[in-house]
Amino acid sequence: MTSASRLLKWYDRHGRALPWRRTRDPYRILVSEIMLQQTQVERVKNFYKGWLKLFPTWKRLARATNEDVIRAWAGLGYNRRALILRDIAREVVTRGVPTTETGWFTLKGIGPYTAAAISAFAQKRRTLPIDTNIRRVLGRLLLGKPFPTMMYDKLIRRAAESFLPKHGRHYDIPQAVFDLATSICTKTPQCAICPLRDDCKAAKLFLNGSTKTPKRTTKKTNERHHRDKPFPDRIYRGRILRLVREWGQVRNREFGPLIDPTFDQKLDQMWINAMVDRLVNDGLLSRKRNKITLPTS
Ligand code: ADE
Repeated sequence: MTSASRLLKWYDRHGRALPWRRTRDPYRILVSEIMLQQTQVERVKNFYKGWLKLFPTWKRLARATNEDVIRAWAGLGYNRRALILRDIAREVVTRGVPTTETGWFTLKGIGPYTAAAISAFAQKRRTLPIDTNIRRVLGRLLLGKPFPTMMYDKLIRRAAESFLPKHGRHYDIPQAVFDLATSICTKTPQCAICPLRDDCKAAKLFLNGSTKTPKRTTKKTNERHHRDKPFPDRIYRGRILRLVREWGQVRNREFGPLIDPTFDQKLDQMWINAMVDRLVNDGLLSRKRNKITLPTS
């Protein structure tokens, strides 16, 4: 039995029943992949269903205004994703649904990972989307690297060429790898219970304790922090947006004390202004005179 078939057998027994695994609709697959980019599976599950009730098709989403999608995205974070998704829907409605990986990749907002993911999951293409989970599992299994970095992606892709089945369920392999990555092949893996233990080039290293777990396996995100604020700017931008969503309109100088208990007019007002500017530039907020609202259009 090949390691791919062992993996699929394990997946059939232990794989998660996730809502986006019950469809081949490219729209539904794209929505799931965009939501999963920066949000945990458990949180995405409920949001996903709600979003699809509001916007069940490319056409319905393409018609949505900025305000509609920003409201529907509330609570999921990284709000620009809502506009990116709507803009992709508009492109698809005018240009047609792409049928190739390259076709997906040419859409603004879709990177190499997402293009490969939609091709595999919606269109059953034999291709490998490499995210951190896939990199970790396949870097271990195929290359014997306990903590593979992005440097190894080319080698992983090359090794996957013979690992991915030529026929049958190659498109299910990445889904199976996601599940192995979150249940068994975690940062500190449970090799003893892994279905691929005997095939894995890194299992021995873990089992005999000869690996050293790096403190951080991923690069610390270079998020901006203002002064000694406890959170990155992203969190405060989220609070600004939430306030406007809930109040309808807010004046620039009202934000400070409402989003930050340590707000200091002299030291922080420019910081707040810059964050509001960025939200306006990103299309997430509108400014009319000195009042900030959600954008229409
Ligand atoms: N992470 C990214 N895409 C995923 C998917 N389709 N299922 C589970 N986790 C994922």
